[in-house]
Amino acid sequence: GTEAAADTAEGAAAVRTVGVVGLGTMGAGIAEVFARAGLDVVGVEADAAALDAGRRRLDASLARAVQRGRLSDEDRDGIVGRIALYTERAALAAADLVVEVVPERIEAKREVFAELDRIVPEGAVLATNTSSLAVTEIAACTTRPERVVGMHFFNPAPVMELVEVVTTVRTEPAAAALASGLAARVGKTPVTVGDRAGFVANALLLPFLNHAVVLLEERVASRDDIDAAVRDGIGLPMGPLALLDLIGLDVSLAVLDVLWAEFRDPRYAAAPLLRRMVAAGLLGRKTGRGFHRHA
Ligand code: CAA
Repeated sequence: GTEAAADTAEGAAAVRTVGVVGLGTMGAGIAEVFARAGLDVVGVEADAAALDAGRRRLDASLARAVQRGRLSDEDRDGIVGRIALYTERAALAAADLVVEVVPERIEAKREVFAELDRIVPEGAVLATNTSSLAVTEIAACTTRPERVVGMHFFNPAPVMELVEVVTTVRTEPAAAALASGLAARVGKTPVTVGDRAGFVANALLLPFLNHAVVLLEERVASRDDIDAAVRDGIGLPMGPLALLDLIGLDVSLAVLDVLWAEFRDPRYAAAPLLRRMVAAGLLGRKTGRGFHRHA
């Protein structure tokens, strides 16, 4: 209709306020990306303690950039000033697009989307950063599935350039174009992918990371030698076991499990050691220990 025609690429240019629900590692990074690009950001967390933790993540990331000489004090203050933080989702009533970045549980995501659908203006786009759940299922609890997309950022969000824009069978082209246009506007490289387990990047990456755990489990080589082989021999920025720690072993396992559930392909069968590490609470950087120890 006319609305759809009005909001293709120009739709992204007209976006002024972006909501971010959930300010964990990914959410805080995503809020930073939008604010750095000059957008007003409304960040929402469940309670005061979570909001404080989110604020600390943002401050630490910006302080690090200042310390490295990549950001001036003045620009840092500008970024901070563009991010308003709330514990009330009602603060999202003025958002043109909202990205949901809550933990990877379908009930949690659906609860957020059902409420966003009531709060956020009718024409606004609702996006999920999910890496392992079906965007279609999340969209189905709203009255506007045609305005729901995935916007899948990569860790660390301020550094990695890719955003997978995930479309479902219900997504209208204008909503996908708005999300892609916005990703480009904030300096990212959008790719459009279908709603299929793992999308593109994780469908390729996770079997590789899982295979590294299998090699460790089978004592083919030590942890450090497996990482060195990939880093120094294949030229990736970090070894697979170090990368699993960065992504989070729980998140990695969740992605493998949905790939397995969807395709029953042995490439996606999680290494028992990975599953045991998650059961043991050794989730990687965020808990201080995974395959490596982190200060
Ligand atoms: N936030 C902000 N900036 C960061 C950062 C963070 N968390 N981590 C690193 N940086 C910045 C640094 O400040 C630095 O910038 P400058 O050179 O301008 O100072 C730059 O990134 C490089 O960082 P470092 O020198 O500290 O270290 P590095 O060169 O080893 O890079 C890295 C760190 C960017 C993490 C790099 O190792 C890398 O790219 N690793 C691979 C990451 C990856 O593959 N991510 C995707 C995971 S899959 C995923 O996320 C999807 C999913 O759904 C599971």
